[in-house]
Amino acid sequence: MKYIILSFLIFAMSCASNNQADENISIIPQPNNMEVGKGSVTLNGDVTLSHNSESLLLLVENFKTDVAELISLSDGNDENANIKLELTTAGANDQAYYLETSKKGVVIRAGSEKGLYYGLQTLKQLMLFSNSAKGKVVLPVLTIDDAPRFGWRGLMLDESRSFFGVEKVKELLELMSLQKLNVFHWHLTDDPGWRIEIKKYPKLATIGGVGNELDPDAPAQFYTQDEIKEIVQFAAERFIQVIPEIDMPGHARAANRAYPEYSGGGSEAHPEFTFNPGKEETYAYLTDILREITTLFPSQYIHMGGDEVHFGNEKWNTDPNVRQLMRREKLEDLKAVEHYFVHRMADSIRMLNKTVIGWDEIVDLNLAADNSLVMWWRHDKVNKLQAALDGGYDVVLCPRIPLYYDFDQDASHQYGRKWGGAYSPLDMVYAFPPDTLLNLTQNQKLIKGIQANIWTERIDDVERLDYMTHPRLSALAEAAWTNKENKNFDDFKERLKPMLSYFDALGIGYNNPFEPELTPEPVSKYKK
Ligand code: ACM
Repeated sequence: MKYIILSFLIFAMSCASNNQADENISIIPQPNNMEVGKGSVTLNGDVTLSHNSESLLLLVENFKTDVAELISLSDGNDENANIKLELTTAGANDQAYYLETSKKGVVIRAGSEKGLYYGLQTLKQLMLFSNSAKGKVVLPVLTIDDAPRFGWRGLMLDESRSFFGVEKVKELLELMSLQKLNVFHWHLTDDPGWRIEIKKYPKLATIGGVGNELDPDAPAQFYTQDEIKEIVQFAAERFIQVIPEIDMPGHARAANRAYPEYSGGGSEAHPEFTFNPGKEETYAYLTDILREITTLFPSQYIHMGGDEVHFGNEKWNTDPNVRQLMRREKLEDLKAVEHYFVHRMADSIRMLNKTVIGWDEIVDLNLAADNSLVMWWRHDKVNKLQAALDGGYDVVLCPRIPLYYDFDQDASHQYGRKWGGAYSPLDMVYAFPPDTLLNLTQNQKLIKGIQANIWTERIDDVERLDYMTHPRLSALAEAAWTNKENKNFDDFKERLKPMLSYFDALGIGYNNPFEPELTPEPVSKYKK
């Protein structure tokens, strides 16, 4: 992205008369405590950066590279450096940071590398969105004492329906980290395609990877294990945890194409939809897969899906293995079979020393609350959120409305989803979460954070991906980081302007909230 920053600068300078950054400091998400002083501080010539711990080396090198087209930074000694990075003793919040700019230069202080990283992202935005020129950065004088509202600030990408590949995912991760989002939930398996190489079961990728939402015969697309490692490392350097989702027992059609012997069948509308809960071999197979998954993803969590099983488990009624299981375990109905399956696989995940994540259907299955996290997605079923909170589960809020980004952004849009006419406009994302949801529990600690989910049935190319993601991603970032009393939608929109110019320079599309006619809705080829 380096050379792109330069073209952004040239762009920014060319419209400097319109650039409000002198008066309005444009940081997204808005910091929680900021005091702006008088005047500015200029960094040019030989700009030096110091750090007080060897553990910061990678952070420092990455930052130097990141801003290299803006300013060339060299290592300086502690006393006289222009930018000082100081790792202090750990504080209560490991994502907090302190940043000060003054005539003496810039100081960023934090009790963790993560906190320092967030301080650097704030500095990067100050550099990008102020009246800087190549080799000369002009920063406002200010003090920021910042920490996030929510620890979990997530984005999910479904690459089963539409596959985007390494470079696009890295670009998303880059834009997430610039805006201090920190969880990338990767929906890698579903009916249209299986997108991750599993060495023990190679056909999952080579056969299961064939097809996508638009074309069941599209050549196989998947991430090799080396690519997965590369992305996980790229994310880790940006303090983003990557959580894989291997959806089960439903949404398994792609896997079942590859290994039909583990299929539990489906229904007319959803053929070959499930794994077979009646076969002992299924549990060994899925546990093998998850074991490989744990070697690739250092995250504490594995997402096991668990959603919409009733869509396609009709075949369980007649499958001899499932019938036998029901007799043996005295399971009365299909719900009890689902319960049995999810408990077995949750046990496997725990045996692998990981914490289970499931969609909110798992609340009905009485999984151990102390080692599971629920993603509440059914916005029309607040009772499921209530049950999760009452049951003591950790919860991430990602309701369809307003946090599913396959939903439209405007009443006039035609290609995304609506729910009884409702959709997910920018201001609604920004205003999330309403107090009514937070007030469902006395124990606010259970609400780990919020997350937007990009389902891609109707997002079949990069143009639509960009359009549906930005700038709702920026609204999400601020909703997740900035305390309610510091949020202001009109102010956010002002701060969005330089961010959108930055997207222009990067060649990243978006839905222009100021002049929507400039960015007409890209067509989706989706057909149901
Ligand atoms: C979901 O949208 N099926 C979690």
